[in-house]
Amino acid sequence: MNVDDCKRAAAHLAASFVKPGMVVGLGTGSTAAFMIERLGERVVKEGLNIQAIPTSEESTRLARAAGIPITTFADHSTVDITIDGADEVERGTLHLIKGLGAALLREKIVAQASRRFVVIVDVTKPVDQLGQRVPVPVEVVPFGYEATAARLEAMGAEIIRPRRLLAGELLTTDNGNRILDCAFGPISDVKALAARLDGTVGVVEHGLFPNMATDVLVATEREVEQWTP
Ligand code: 5RP
Repeated sequence: MNVDDCKRAAAHLAASFVKPGMVVGLGTGSTAAFMIERLGERVVKEGLNIQAIPTSEESTRLARAAGIPITTFADHSTVDITIDGADEVERGTLHLIKGLGAALLREKIVAQASRRFVVIVDVTKPVDQLGQRVPVPVEVVPFGYEATAARLEAMGAEIIRPRRLLAGELLTTDNGNRILDCAFGPISDVKALAARLDGTVGVVEHGLFPNMATDVLVATEREVEQWTP
């Protein structure tokens, strides 16, 4: 199995958790895209009756193309199950880094409103300590983002870059903000760093998701393992 096969296997198992009548949060990214595709098949071919809240404009587009009915928080204050990918999963705690796909703000809003938050990853994503392989994406308001970046650097972040598109211009999130990718190195106290980021003026949200996943499905070459906290 290649990496895409692993992502697909985790995504299909997670999609099987969705039952008729559920409100479903749809994550963002390449792994979540396999899940959206599979849920669309269940809606169209099996007549599965669900409504979905996507976590990005891209996932909204994919869901519509797959035939999944879309709803919003105006009609549903809670979500039965959300299925999303992650960039790192800490073994044991199941704390996450998310947001390399720049959708972390809506992802966190939807995850927080969910009874069950299922994370789907391939075997490259688990780590012993968050921050080992990827930076923490931090969504900041455009005004004064250079000053916010300086505050983050004073907290120990090496700011890899304000995220840019391939064409070179600064990336703007679905919410009109910027992303600063902040490398802190291995993070010994995830909750403490999350609290400091929460308290930093100019920071809208960050990609640390401590204690949020209820299940993590890790697809290896042989099987999909289900981890719970
Ligand atoms: C987007 C995310 C994604 O879930 C994360 O980047 C994983 O993406 P992929 O499944 O493509 O590896 O957090 O903001």
